[in-house]
Amino acid sequence: MKIVPIDLGERSYDIEIDQNALSRIGAAVESLGSVSRVALITDDNVEPLYAEVASQAIVERGLDLDAIVVPSGEQTKSLDYAEALWEQFLEIKIDRRSVAVALGGGVVGDLAGFVSATYARGIRYFQVPTTLLAQVDSSVGGKTAINLPSAKNMVGAFHQPSGVLIDPTVLNTLSDDQYRAGLGEVVKYGASLDENFFAYLEQNTEKVNARDPIALETVISRCCELKAEIVKKDERETSGLRALLNYGHTFGHALESRIGHGKLLHGFGVALGCSLAARLAFCLAQKGDDRFSDINESWIARQDKLFESLGLPTRLRDLPAVVGVEVDCSPEKLVELMSTDKKTEFGQLNFVLPRKIGDSFLVRNVSVSDVLDALHLQ
Ligand code: GLY
Repeated sequence: MKIVPIDLGERSYDIEIDQNALSRIGAAVESLGSVSRVALITDDNVEPLYAEVASQAIVERGLDLDAIVVPSGEQTKSLDYAEALWEQFLEIKIDRRSVAVALGGGVVGDLAGFVSATYARGIRYFQVPTTLLAQVDSSVGGKTAINLPSAKNMVGAFHQPSGVLIDPTVLNTLSDDQYRAGLGEVVKYGASLDENFFAYLEQNTEKVNARDPIALETVISRCCELKAEIVKKDERETSGLRALLNYGHTFGHALESRIGHGKLLHGFGVALGCSLAARLAFCLAQKGDDRFSDINESWIARQDKLFESLGLPTRLRDLPAVVGVEVDCSPEKLVELMSTDKKTEFGQLNFVLPRKIGDSFLVRNVSVSDVLDALHLQ
Protein backbone atom coordinates (compact mmCIF):
# COMPACT_ATOMS: atom_id res chain seq x y z
CA MET A 1 0.00 0.00 0.00
CA LYS A 2 1.16 3.53 -0.73
CA ILE A 3 -0.18 6.59 1.02
CA VAL A 4 0.10 10.07 -0.42
CA PRO A 5 -0.90 12.73 2.10
CA ILE A 6 -2.59 15.90 0.87
CA ASP A 7 -1.57 18.49 3.35
CA LEU A 8 -4.22 21.21 3.55
CA GLY A 9 -4.55 22.03 7.23
CA GLU A 10 -7.99 21.08 8.48
CA ARG A 11 -8.91 19.86 4.98
CA SER A 12 -6.00 17.38 4.87
CA TYR A 13 -6.61 13.81 3.71
CA ASP A 14 -4.79 10.76 2.44
CA ILE A 15 -4.80 9.10 -0.94
CA GLU A 16 -4.43 5.36 -0.43
CA ILE A 17 -3.21 3.28 -3.34
CA ASP A 18 -3.81 -0.34 -2.52
CA GLN A 19 -4.95 -3.51 -4.26
CA ASN A 20 -7.58 -3.95 -1.52
CA ALA A 21 -8.78 -0.37 -1.51
CA LEU A 22 -12.41 -1.24 -2.31
CA SER A 23 -12.76 -3.50 0.68
CA ARG A 24 -11.39 -0.73 2.90
CA ILE A 25 -14.12 1.80 2.07
CA GLY A 26 -16.27 0.94 5.09
CA ALA A 27 -13.38 1.28 7.53
CA ALA A 28 -12.35 4.58 5.95
CA VAL A 29 -15.89 6.00 6.23
CA GLU A 30 -16.29 4.73 9.78
CA SER A 31 -12.99 6.33 10.81
CA LEU A 32 -14.50 9.79 10.19
CA GLY A 33 -16.78 9.26 13.18
CA SER A 34 -20.44 10.33 13.63
CA VAL A 35 -21.67 8.93 10.33
CA SER A 36 -25.50 8.92 10.08
CA ARG A 37 -25.82 7.30 6.60
CA VAL A 38 -23.78 6.56 3.52
CA ALA A 39 -24.81 7.26 -0.09
CA LEU A 40 -22.84 5.25 -2.63
CA ILE A 41 -22.99 6.94 -6.03
CA THR A 42 -21.91 4.99 -9.07
CA ASP A 43 -22.80 4.57 -12.75
CA ASP A 44 -24.36 1.76 -14.73
CA ASN A 45 -20.97 0.62 -16.10
CA VAL A 46 -19.28 0.36 -12.74
CA GLU A 47 -22.28 -0.87 -10.74
CA PRO A 48 -22.23 -4.50 -12.00
CA LEU A 49 -18.46 -4.70 -11.54
CA TYR A 50 -17.66 -3.10 -8.19
CA ALA A 51 -20.79 -1.88 -6.37
CA GLU A 52 -21.29 -5.13 -4.51
CA VAL A 53 -17.81 -5.33 -3.02
CA ALA A 54 -17.97 -1.62 -2.13
CA SER A 55 -21.46 -1.94 -0.56
CA GLN A 56 -20.43 -5.03 1.36
CA ALA A 57 -17.41 -3.21 2.77
CA ILE A 58 -19.70 -0.42 3.98
CA VAL A 59 -22.57 -2.43 5.48
CA GLU A 60 -20.26 -4.86 7.27
CA ARG A 61 -19.13 -1.91 9.41
CA GLY A 62 -22.74 -1.46 10.53
CA LEU A 63 -23.27 1.66 8.42
CA ASP A 64 -26.65 2.39 6.78
CA LEU A 65 -26.24 2.50 3.04
CA ASP A 66 -28.22 3.57 -0.03
CA ALA A 67 -26.79 3.07 -3.50
CA ILE A 68 -27.64 5.46 -6.33
CA VAL A 69 -26.84 4.51 -9.92
CA VAL A 70 -26.63 7.16 -12.66
CA PRO A 71 -26.14 6.59 -16.39
CA SER A 72 -22.52 6.52 -17.50
CA GLY A 73 -21.29 9.25 -19.83
CA GLU A 74 -20.48 12.94 -19.92
CA GLN A 75 -24.16 13.96 -20.34
CA THR A 76 -24.78 12.86 -16.74
CA LYS A 77 -22.57 15.67 -15.43
CA SER A 78 -25.48 18.07 -15.73
CA LEU A 79 -27.71 20.25 -13.61
CA ASP A 80 -30.57 17.78 -14.18
CA TYR A 81 -28.62 14.93 -12.62
CA ALA A 82 -27.30 17.14 -9.82
CA GLU A 83 -30.91 18.05 -9.00
CA ALA A 84 -31.98 14.39 -9.17
CA LEU A 85 -29.22 13.51 -6.70
CA TRP A 86 -30.11 16.38 -4.35
CA GLU A 87 -33.73 15.11 -4.37
CA GLN A 88 -32.62 11.53 -3.78
CA PHE A 89 -30.39 12.63 -0.91
CA LEU A 90 -33.43 14.29 0.65
CA GLU A 91 -35.55 11.19 0.15
CA ILE A 92 -33.04 8.82 1.73
CA LYS A 93 -32.50 11.28 4.58
CA ILE A 94 -28.93 12.28 3.93
CA ASP A 95 -27.99 14.92 6.47
CA ARG A 96 -24.91 16.87 7.53
CA ARG A 97 -23.50 13.82 9.32
CA SER A 98 -23.84 11.61 6.24
CA VAL A 99 -21.06 10.63 3.86
CA ALA A 100 -21.17 10.18 0.08
CA VAL A 101 -18.90 7.74 -1.72
CA ALA A 102 -18.19 8.40 -5.41
CA LEU A 103 -17.39 5.06 -7.05
CA GLY A 104 -16.56 5.59 -10.72
CA GLY A 105 -14.66 7.67 -13.23
CA GLY A 106 -14.38 11.41 -13.63
CA VAL A 107 -18.07 11.96 -14.38
CA VAL A 108 -19.26 10.24 -11.20
CA GLY A 109 -16.47 11.83 -9.14
CA ASP A 110 -17.12 15.37 -10.36
CA LEU A 111 -20.92 15.06 -10.11
CA ALA A 112 -21.00 13.34 -6.72
CA GLY A 113 -18.35 15.77 -5.46
CA PHE A 114 -20.43 18.74 -6.64
CA VAL A 115 -23.61 17.38 -5.06
CA SER A 116 -21.67 16.74 -1.82
CA ALA A 117 -20.26 20.28 -1.91
CA THR A 118 -23.71 21.83 -2.24
CA TYR A 119 -26.25 19.57 -0.52
CA ALA A 120 -26.95 20.90 2.99
CA ARG A 121 -24.12 23.39 2.29
CA GLY A 122 -21.61 20.58 2.12
CA ILE A 123 -21.29 17.01 3.35
CA ARG A 124 -18.26 14.74 3.58
CA TYR A 125 -17.40 12.44 0.69
CA PHE A 126 -14.83 9.91 -0.47
CA GLN A 127 -13.51 9.47 -3.95
CA VAL A 128 -13.08 5.87 -5.11
CA PRO A 129 -11.93 6.35 -8.71
CA THR A 130 -12.20 3.46 -11.15
CA THR A 131 -10.59 4.93 -14.28
CA LEU A 132 -6.92 5.73 -14.68
CA LEU A 133 -7.74 9.33 -15.53
CA ALA A 134 -9.74 9.74 -12.33
CA GLN A 135 -7.08 7.94 -10.27
CA VAL A 136 -4.25 10.21 -11.40
CA ASP A 137 -6.11 13.47 -11.74
CA SER A 138 -9.79 14.23 -11.33
CA SER A 139 -10.39 12.49 -7.98
CA VAL A 140 -7.50 14.33 -6.34
CA GLY A 141 -7.46 17.98 -5.34
CA GLY A 142 -11.08 18.82 -4.59
CA LYS A 143 -12.30 20.22 -7.90
CA THR A 144 -15.95 19.30 -8.39
CA ALA A 145 -18.15 20.35 -11.29
CA ILE A 146 -21.04 19.91 -13.65
CA ASN A 147 -21.15 21.03 -17.27
CA LEU A 148 -23.28 23.73 -18.85
CA PRO A 149 -24.61 22.75 -22.28
CA SER A 150 -22.02 25.03 -23.89
CA ALA A 151 -19.16 24.87 -21.38
CA LYS A 152 -17.56 21.91 -19.69
CA ASN A 153 -16.91 22.11 -15.91
CA MET A 154 -18.28 25.65 -15.84
CA VAL A 155 -20.24 25.32 -12.59
CA GLY A 156 -18.58 23.79 -9.56
CA ALA A 157 -16.91 24.19 -6.23
CA PHE A 158 -13.67 23.38 -4.49
CA HIS A 159 -14.64 20.72 -1.97
CA GLN A 160 -11.89 18.42 -0.74
CA PRO A 161 -12.83 14.78 -0.18
CA SER A 162 -12.27 13.12 3.19
CA GLY A 163 -10.08 10.58 1.43
CA VAL A 164 -9.27 8.96 -1.90
CA LEU A 165 -9.13 5.16 -2.17
CA ILE A 166 -7.46 3.85 -5.30
CA ASP A 167 -7.35 0.20 -6.31
CA PRO A 168 -5.09 -0.18 -9.39
CA THR A 169 -6.48 -3.65 -10.15
CA VAL A 170 -9.89 -2.21 -11.13
CA LEU A 171 -8.12 -0.90 -14.22
CA ASN A 172 -8.09 -4.45 -15.58
CA THR A 173 -11.72 -4.03 -16.62
CA LEU A 174 -11.19 -0.63 -18.25
CA SER A 175 -11.50 -0.42 -22.04
CA ASP A 176 -8.30 0.07 -23.99
CA ASP A 177 -9.32 3.60 -25.03
CA GLN A 178 -10.21 4.65 -21.48
CA TYR A 179 -6.92 3.24 -20.21
CA ARG A 180 -4.87 5.04 -22.85
CA ALA A 181 -6.77 8.25 -22.18
CA GLY A 182 -5.56 8.04 -18.57
CA LEU A 183 -2.02 7.56 -19.84
CA GLY A 184 -2.35 10.91 -21.64
CA GLU A 185 -2.58 12.61 -18.24
CA VAL A 186 0.20 10.39 -16.85
CA VAL A 187 2.69 11.46 -19.55
CA LYS A 188 1.60 15.06 -19.00
CA TYR A 189 2.86 14.87 -15.38
CA GLY A 190 6.27 13.58 -16.43
CA ALA A 191 6.68 15.94 -19.37
CA SER A 192 5.71 19.06 -17.45
CA LEU A 193 6.78 18.37 -13.86
CA ASP A 194 9.21 15.48 -13.38
CA GLU A 195 12.00 14.42 -15.72
CA ASN A 196 12.81 11.27 -13.69
CA PHE A 197 9.20 10.15 -13.93
CA PHE A 198 9.24 10.82 -17.67
CA ALA A 199 12.35 8.62 -17.95
CA TYR A 200 10.68 5.93 -15.80
CA LEU A 201 7.76 5.88 -18.25
CA GLU A 202 10.15 5.66 -21.22
CA GLN A 203 11.89 2.69 -19.61
CA ASN A 204 8.67 0.91 -18.61
CA THR A 205 6.33 1.34 -21.57
CA GLU A 206 5.87 -2.43 -21.94
CA LYS A 207 4.86 -2.88 -18.32
CA VAL A 208 2.59 0.15 -18.43
CA ASN A 209 0.94 -1.08 -21.65
CA ALA A 210 0.46 -4.48 -20.02
CA ARG A 211 -1.17 -2.83 -16.94
CA ASP A 212 1.43 -4.42 -14.70
CA PRO A 213 0.07 -3.83 -11.16
CA ILE A 214 3.44 -2.94 -9.63
CA ALA A 215 4.27 -0.45 -12.40
CA LEU A 216 0.76 0.98 -12.08
CA GLU A 217 1.13 1.49 -8.34
CA THR A 218 4.34 3.45 -9.01
CA VAL A 219 2.73 5.44 -11.82
CA ILE A 220 -0.44 6.33 -9.91
CA SER A 221 1.34 7.22 -6.70
CA ARG A 222 3.91 9.43 -8.47
CA CYS A 223 1.14 11.31 -10.31
CA CYS A 224 -0.75 11.77 -7.04
CA GLU A 225 2.42 12.99 -5.29
CA LEU A 226 3.08 15.52 -8.03
CA LYS A 227 -0.50 16.73 -7.90
CA ALA A 228 -0.48 16.83 -4.08
CA GLU A 229 2.64 19.06 -4.08
CA ILE A 230 0.89 21.56 -6.32
CA VAL A 231 -2.55 21.44 -4.70
CA LYS A 232 -1.13 22.07 -1.24
CA LYS A 233 0.61 25.23 -2.48
CA ASP A 234 -2.23 26.53 -4.68
CA GLU A 235 -5.44 24.78 -3.64
CA ARG A 236 -7.77 27.22 -5.39
CA GLU A 237 -5.67 27.95 -8.47
CA THR A 238 -4.97 31.54 -7.55
CA SER A 239 -1.17 31.80 -7.87
CA GLY A 240 -0.84 30.17 -11.30
CA LEU A 241 0.95 27.12 -9.87
CA ARG A 242 -2.06 24.78 -10.09
CA ALA A 243 -2.47 25.89 -13.70
CA LEU A 244 0.72 23.90 -14.41
CA LEU A 245 -1.44 20.79 -14.20
CA ASN A 246 -2.97 22.02 -17.44
CA TYR A 247 -0.06 21.29 -19.78
CA GLY A 248 -1.67 20.35 -23.09
CA HIS A 249 -5.10 21.45 -21.94
CA THR A 250 -5.59 24.72 -23.87
CA PHE A 251 -5.21 22.95 -27.21
CA GLY A 252 -6.81 19.79 -25.78
CA HIS A 253 -10.00 21.54 -24.67
CA ALA A 254 -10.35 23.22 -28.09
CA LEU A 255 -10.07 19.82 -29.77
CA GLU A 256 -12.58 18.30 -27.36
CA SER A 257 -15.13 21.06 -27.99
CA ARG A 258 -14.58 20.82 -31.73
CA ILE A 259 -15.06 17.07 -31.84
CA GLY A 260 -17.51 16.70 -28.96
CA HIS A 261 -16.88 15.98 -25.30
CA GLY A 262 -16.86 12.27 -24.76
CA LYS A 263 -16.25 11.65 -28.48
CA LEU A 264 -12.62 12.71 -28.18
CA LEU A 265 -11.61 11.34 -24.78
CA HIS A 266 -10.01 13.99 -22.57
CA GLY A 267 -6.69 12.16 -22.30
CA PHE A 268 -6.39 11.88 -26.07
CA GLY A 269 -7.04 15.62 -26.30
CA VAL A 270 -4.33 16.18 -23.67
CA ALA A 271 -1.81 14.04 -25.60
CA LEU A 272 -2.47 16.01 -28.78
CA GLY A 273 -2.47 19.23 -26.77
CA CYS A 274 0.96 18.51 -25.24
CA SER A 275 2.30 17.73 -28.71
CA LEU A 276 0.94 21.05 -29.99
CA ALA A 277 2.23 22.94 -26.95
CA ALA A 278 5.71 21.53 -27.61
CA ARG A 279 5.48 22.78 -31.19
CA LEU A 280 4.35 26.19 -29.96
CA ALA A 281 7.40 26.38 -27.68
CA PHE A 282 9.56 25.33 -30.65
CA CYS A 283 8.05 28.10 -32.84
CA LEU A 284 8.77 30.64 -30.11
CA ALA A 285 12.35 29.32 -29.80
CA GLN A 286 12.78 29.71 -33.57
CA LYS A 287 11.67 33.32 -33.24
CA GLY A 288 14.46 33.94 -30.72
CA ASP A 289 12.58 33.52 -27.43
CA ASP A 290 15.40 32.16 -25.28
CA ARG A 291 13.03 30.84 -22.60
CA PHE A 292 12.56 27.93 -25.01
CA SER A 293 16.16 27.48 -26.17
CA ASP A 294 16.14 23.78 -25.16
CA ILE A 295 13.10 22.99 -27.28
CA ASN A 296 14.26 21.59 -30.61
CA GLU A 297 13.15 18.89 -33.03
CA SER A 298 14.76 16.05 -31.08
CA TRP A 299 13.03 17.27 -27.89
CA ILE A 300 9.69 17.15 -29.65
CA ALA A 301 10.49 13.72 -31.08
CA ARG A 302 11.29 12.42 -27.58
CA GLN A 303 7.95 13.57 -26.20
CA ASP A 304 6.04 12.31 -29.28
CA LYS A 305 7.76 8.94 -28.98
CA LEU A 306 6.61 8.38 -25.41
CA PHE A 307 3.01 9.30 -26.22
CA GLU A 308 3.06 7.09 -29.32
CA SER A 309 4.61 4.12 -27.53
CA LEU A 310 1.64 4.27 -25.14
CA GLY A 311 -0.82 4.28 -28.05
CA LEU A 312 -1.62 7.99 -27.94
CA PRO A 313 -1.97 10.40 -30.88
CA THR A 314 0.47 13.25 -31.42
CA ARG A 315 -0.66 14.61 -34.80
CA LEU A 316 -3.89 16.27 -35.85
CA ARG A 317 -3.84 14.03 -38.89
CA ASP A 318 -4.25 11.04 -36.50
CA LEU A 319 -7.63 12.39 -35.38
CA PRO A 320 -9.93 10.68 -37.92
CA ALA A 321 -8.47 7.31 -36.91
CA VAL A 322 -8.94 8.17 -33.22
CA VAL A 323 -12.54 9.42 -33.40
CA GLY A 324 -13.70 7.43 -36.42
CA VAL A 325 -14.90 10.41 -38.49
CA GLU A 326 -13.37 13.20 -40.55
CA VAL A 327 -13.28 16.44 -38.58
CA ASP A 328 -12.35 19.95 -39.56
CA CYS A 329 -9.70 20.94 -37.04
CA SER A 330 -8.19 23.70 -39.14
CA PRO A 331 -5.77 25.98 -37.26
CA GLU A 332 -8.12 28.94 -37.70
CA LYS A 333 -11.09 27.02 -36.25
CA LEU A 334 -9.08 25.85 -33.25
CA VAL A 335 -7.79 29.37 -32.53
CA GLU A 336 -11.36 30.67 -32.72
CA LEU A 337 -12.49 27.99 -30.25
CA MET A 338 -9.66 28.80 -27.84
CA SER A 339 -10.39 32.53 -28.01
CA THR A 340 -14.08 32.06 -27.31
CA ASP A 341 -13.64 29.40 -24.63
CA LYS A 342 -15.79 30.41 -21.66
CA LYS A 343 -12.81 29.89 -19.39
CA THR A 344 -10.40 32.10 -21.34
CA GLU A 345 -9.16 34.93 -19.11
CA PHE A 346 -9.71 38.40 -20.59
CA GLY A 347 -9.74 36.89 -24.10
CA GLN A 348 -6.03 36.02 -23.74
CA LEU A 349 -4.53 32.80 -25.06
CA ASN A 350 -2.64 31.25 -22.14
CA PHE A 351 -0.60 28.07 -22.38
CA VAL A 352 1.54 25.93 -20.13
CA LEU A 353 4.70 25.51 -22.19
CA PRO A 354 7.79 23.36 -21.67
CA ARG A 355 11.22 24.77 -20.85
CA LYS A 356 12.66 21.26 -20.84
CA ILE A 357 11.42 17.78 -19.94
CA GLY A 358 9.93 18.01 -16.44
CA ASP A 359 9.95 21.80 -16.36
CA SER A 360 7.11 23.96 -17.62
CA PHE A 361 5.60 27.34 -16.91
CA LEU A 362 2.48 29.35 -17.62
CA VAL A 363 2.81 31.74 -20.55
CA ARG A 364 0.08 34.35 -20.75
CA ASN A 365 -1.17 36.25 -23.77
CA VAL A 366 0.49 34.27 -26.56
CA SER A 367 -0.18 35.87 -29.94
CA VAL A 368 -2.64 34.31 -32.37
CA SER A 369 -0.01 34.27 -35.11
CA ASP A 370 2.40 32.23 -32.96
CA VAL A 371 -0.39 29.74 -32.21
CA LEU A 372 -1.31 29.51 -35.88
CA ASP A 373 2.35 28.87 -36.78
CA ALA A 374 2.49 26.03 -34.25
CA LEU A 375 -0.71 24.48 -35.58
CA HIS A 376 0.61 24.69 -39.15
CA LEU A 377 3.75 22.79 -38.02
CA GLN A 378 1.59 19.69 -37.40
N1 GLY B 1 -7.13 18.79 -13.36
C1 GLY B 1 -6.47 19.98 -13.00
C2 GLY B 1 -6.65 20.34 -11.56
O1 GLY B 1 -7.12 19.55 -10.77
O2 GLY B 1 -6.30 21.43 -11.20
